[in-house]
Amino acid sequence: MNTYNVITLFPNLIEEWKNIGIVRQAIKNQLVNIQTTNLREFGIGEYKQVDDAPYGGGPGMVLMPEPLDNAINSSNSEINVFLTPSGEQLDETLLIELLSFKTINLIAGRYEGFDQRILDIHSDYEVSIGHTVISGGEVPAMYLLEALIRRIPGVLGNPDSLKYETFNDNKYDFPVYTRPETFKNLSVPEVLLSGNHKDIEEWKKNNLKDI
Ligand SMILES: C[S@@+](CC[C@H](N)C(=O)[O-])C[C@H]1O[C@@H](n2cnc3c(N)ncnc32)[C@H](O)[C@@H]1O
Repeated sequence: MNTYNVITLFPNLIEEWKNIGIVRQAIKNQLVNIQTTNLREFGIGEYKQVDDAPYGGGPGMVLMPEPLDNAINSSNSEINVFLTPSGEQLDETLLIELLSFKTINLIAGRYEGFDQRILDIHSDYEVSIGHTVISGGEVPAMYLLEALIRRIPGVLGNPDSLKYETFNDNKYDFPVYTRPETFKNLSVPEVLLSGNHKDIEEWKKNNLKDI
């Protein structure tokens, strides 16, 4: 079973998300194991300090290397994936590569990010979820995990869901419709109501848009 361990200052965010939808179902069916490591527990001193001011000055605080080093060393995951805005952009190729590892630490940053030395020592991958900066690595970690988990065999009720999915074969998914047949003068394409499976398949293929 694939095991993913999120190292974070906010494990509650991840624990809450674990109770929802496909992720919850995958955990229940023992198709994936998701753990959290609370970085605060590895903080230094009475106040469990995990961050400090940057050398050379500047705004914000930086995550200190020592608590992260100890948190990472407390797990025996095969690889360490750091979530960073400057990392490799997540795409299907990178996703498939990451799926080949059975155990992964996903390390979520906060504040001004990681002391560079922790990346130098421990980083196997730096992954970015997009060309924009958000406040923490927890949402990027959940984003990456959802993308990984739905590709684990057995997780999606219908494996065909992956067949025509956006980004497969460099295409976007075809448009989808549900009831009612007409909504505000807009009708569902006739062929989808025809019951002719061959024509429907053909329509789906023809409506996959090039990226
Ligand atoms: C406020 S950001 C740090 C930004 C950093 N000063 C910079 O400009 O690169 C805090 C943390 O959020 C996470 N993060 C923010 N944007 C991200 C993105 N696009 N992809 C992955 N992680 C991101 C990272 O873990 C990062 O360490």
